[in-house]
This record gives sequence, C-alpha cells and structure tokens, in this order.
Amino acid sequence: MSLIDKFKINKKKNYPKNNLRHVAIIMDGNGRWAKNRGKLRIEGHKAGIKPVIKSIKFAILNKIEVLTLFAFSSENKIRPSLEVISLMDLFLNVLNTQIGNLKLNNVRLRIIGDRNFFSKSLRDKINESESLTSKNSGLTLNIAANYGGRWDIIQAIKKIVIKVQLGILNPSNINDKTVSKLLCMSDLPSVDLVIRTGREYRISNFLIWQIAYSELYFADVFWPDFNNHIFKSAIDFFVYRKRRFGGL
Ligand code: FPP
Repeated sequence: MSLIDKFKINKKKNYPKNNLRHVAIIMDGNGRWAKNRGKLRIEGHKAGIKPVIKSIKFAILNKIEVLTLFAFSSENKIRPSLEVISLMDLFLNVLNTQIGNLKLNNVRLRIIGDRNFFSKSLRDKINESESLTSKNSGLTLNIAANYGGRWDIIQAIKKIVIKVQLGILNPSNINDKTVSKLLCMSDLPSVDLVIRTGREYRISNFLIWQIAYSELYFADVFWPDFNNHIFKSAIDFFVYRKRRFGGL
C-alpha cells in the first residue's frame, strides 16, 4: 500500500486534523539533478536555492511557525574540498543576498550546527544575520549547517557531564527532558513533519532525537525540482495522520 493510499484511508475515517507547527526538510538530490543534466554538482546546489526561497515563502503563507532546512551535514565535510568550499561560498552568498528579504518578511533566522568548521567571515555573517532578525516574530527559519543529530546529542551530553561534575545534577535525575532541553531547537515547537527529497528513505543523521514521533514524508523528486505543489501534498498527507505518540 502506498503512502497516498494510506492517507486516503485515514481521511475516510475522518480523524481530527493535526496542527502543523514545525516542518523539517532534508534537501537531497542536488548532485544527481545536476548529473542528469550533464552539469557540475555545484550547479545542482545553485539550482537548490530557488526551492529554498519558495519553501520559505510557502511556510510563511501557510502560517507554519518553524521551518528547519538540512543544508550541510557533519558528514558532508568528507566530500571533495572543492565542493565543500563551493557550498560554503554559496551559503555566504545566500546570507548576503537574502538577509534583507528575511528581515522584511519578519523571519527569524537561526543556524544550527557546529560553527567551528566555518571561516571567520562566514561565522561573522551568521552572527550578524541572526542578530539582525532575532526580534522578528514570524516564521523561525533554522538552517542546519555542519549539523548532525549525533553531534547535537554529544554536545548535550558534554553539558550534562559538566553539571554532574559540578554537583548541580544528580545522575539518577537524568531523564529525557534533561537531554531534550540541551539540544538545538529545545525552545521551539517539536518537529511535526519531516520531508525528504532525493529518492532516499533514511534520516541521514538529521534530527535523530527530535524526530522520534515526527511524521515522515518522502517526495519522489530531487531537491531542485521541489515545489509548492509537493509541499502541499506533504501537508495533506500530514494533517490526517493519526498521531499516537506511543499511546493507543
Ligand atoms: C544534498 O544534495 C544537498 C546538499 C548537501 C546541499 C544543500 C544546499 C542547497 C539546497 C543550496 C543552498 C541552501 C542554503 C540554505 C544556503 P546532494 O549533494 O547530497 O545530492 P546527491 O545525493 O544527488 O549527490
């Protein structure tokens, strides 16, 4: 049974609609999109900017509160250095050209991930972009860059160990809330829906803790071909899912 068939069955049962607050997207398939067109991989990444901008607009129009985009994973660093450098340049360029638009549209930008890897100019630009938009009250846009779910959990564990060493946390009191509140995005609504493009059916070390109960939607396109229609299909799929969070 396909996901769409399942969706139809759920719809018939007339479940109450789910409230969609936080969407996270794994933007995959830029390289293959470019290869299919005889282009360099970086051309695929460049073509991926348009659907990024469209998705942000779509999220604003549809009153989604948080949009989290997986732009560069901790593991992407092992790619050829030319591709990594080009991606960093693209990231800097997107920040330079789009920050005004984000500010104008009341978007609060946050970058999640390990920043130590970035050049000083990129780190400075990230800090500047975040503080320029920090007071905005519309969409919160998280860009996951040099981010990995395991890295996120490890940085939380390190903070927990320090608290234990300082005697301000008793190890027997550690529970899932102790960890959750030290992870990236702990102050934001939990992730309701994860969309992945690129014809792969895995999580690839994205938000592994935060998406324990998220709904998953796999779109059969490469990221540069992602559009509002597909975004809408993912939402249609989500709103009638019966979410049980482990209950009955
Ligand atoms: C995955 O495709 C995509 C990336 C590693 C980079 C994503 C970057 C963008 C969409 C453009 C810039 C966006 C921002 C927010 C600055 P892949 O290279 O793994 O594709 P493949 O699986 O076909 O090789």
